[in-house]
Amino acid sequence: MKKILNIFSVLLLFTFSPVAAGDITKGEKKFKKCKSCHMIVDDSGTTIVKGGRNGPNLYDISGRVAASIDGFKYGESLATLGKSGFVWSESEFIAYVADPKKYLVDKLDDKKARSKMSYKLKNDADTLNIWAYLESLSE
Ligand code: HEC
Repeated sequence: MKKILNIFSVLLLFTFSPVAAGDITKGEKKFKKCKSCHMIVDDSGTTIVKGGRNGPNLYDISGRVAASIDGFKYGESLATLGKSGFVWSESEFIAYVADPKKYLVDKLDDKKARSKMSYKLKNDADTLNIWAYLESLSE
């Protein structure tokens, strides 16, 4: 009974925690949507998730400068954003993944901005969970 109560209070804590945090386990499952184009490989070269090469490695994306994976051919617009020193945070990541092209058009204030990422994930809850998963993998 005590154990059940403990589990219950942990659940309560999660439900009412003021900052909405993503669910790592759900995020890991939803990463399926990304891995056709994105791998996750840590700094020592160990593969965490085998994925496609169409997109850049997403390891340690939290706080990473945009378009900064060596050897990946980024589109001009994302590269421009990266050169400004822009780093990925949770809210920017969610907005970007929902519509990369529109995101870059708005961010760079350039109607001609283009994205090499053609995929859109318009479910912010899923994207938040994916962010939590990716964040959980870095040190
Ligand atoms: C169809 C292939 C494809 C899919 C599916 C895809 N992406 Fe991408 N992604 C790309 C490409 C290509 C780029 C590089 C964009 C550019 O250079 O304009 C990219 C770039 C990114 C970046 C910027 C990385 C950096 O180094 O600055 C993030 C973040 C990202 N994708 C997240 C995701 C997430 C999360 C998913 C799954 C919900 C996803 N992508 C699904 C192809 C894809």
